[in-house]
Amino acid sequence: MTCVFTGAVETDRAAQPPAEVVLTPRLRLTPIGPADVDDLIVLYRDPLVAFWTGPWNPESVRVWTADMATRWSVDGVAKWLARSRSDSSLVGRGGFTRFELDGEPVLELGWVVRDALTGRGYATEIGQAALDWAAIHQPRTPIVAFTEVHNQASQAVMRHLRMRPSGVIRRSGLIEGRPGLHPDAPFALYRLDRDDRVSRGDREFSATGPVGDPSTSDRIRPPR
Ligand SMILES: CC(C)(COP(=O)(O)OP(=O)(O)OC[C@H]1O[C@@H](n2cnc3c(N)ncnc32)[C@H](O)[C@@H]1OP(=O)(O)O)[C@@H](O)C(=O)NCCC(=O)NCCS
Repeated sequence: MTCVFTGAVETDRAAQPPAEVVLTPRLRLTPIGPADVDDLIVLYRDPLVAFWTGPWNPESVRVWTADMATRWSVDGVAKWLARSRSDSSLVGRGGFTRFELDGEPVLELGWVVRDALTGRGYATEIGQAALDWAAIHQPRTPIVAFTEVHNQASQAVMRHLRMRPSGVIRRSGLIEGRPGLHPDAPFALYRLDRDDRVSRGDREFSATGPVGDPSTSDRIRPPR
């Protein structure tokens, strides 16, 4: 499915601070804040979501949610909650976490969609909206996405977004065929560098903010 970002925000996006509501053709993306804890507990209970991003419990979801709210206020960027524009039902979450990859400040792009709603292009729609948002607010910062090498659905989203495969990194995660989490699981890394973004027609701005603590990244799992 091809997703076209409408460019619509509730007010003139170029004139607004980054923590704005973003509208896509089907979704309303809102900066995650404390009021979203209950929705996120529901989302992280979905079996597929829990398998790839968990394990979670209500307390670890609360901690993660508070971290996202802090990141929006300190970093000026973090994840959005995604709800349907038509009926406000929960669809997923996604967007950026400011992150250091081998000492390089990057924006990590991620997505999670409710189990019952996969395969409809929602993750790609969230990812495209995030790339359009970054073209305005974070045009110089490289964008990366990574997932366990056997998470084919997430890598399909990365390819939909025309991100480039950039090797394998090792971090805490799943290894195919071996139960549990492993500290050195192989993750497929995809990137969009500044040159890629310029060639895609992204706009030139000069906004970079403070670098967040990578230990609280999207893909660092909460304590077991
Ligand atoms: C990964 C995830 C976000 C994808 O969400 P989604 O809304 O279904 O994504 P999209 O519909 O935009 O695209 C999914 C693509 O993956 C493909 N796909 C799905 N399962 C696949 C599989 N097992 N192998 C290969 N491709 C697969 C789909 O066919 C689709 O590609 P296509 O449009 O070319 O057919 C969703 O499955 C999810 O939330 N999973 C659990 C959490 C997770 O893994 N998040 C990523 C962590 S890095």
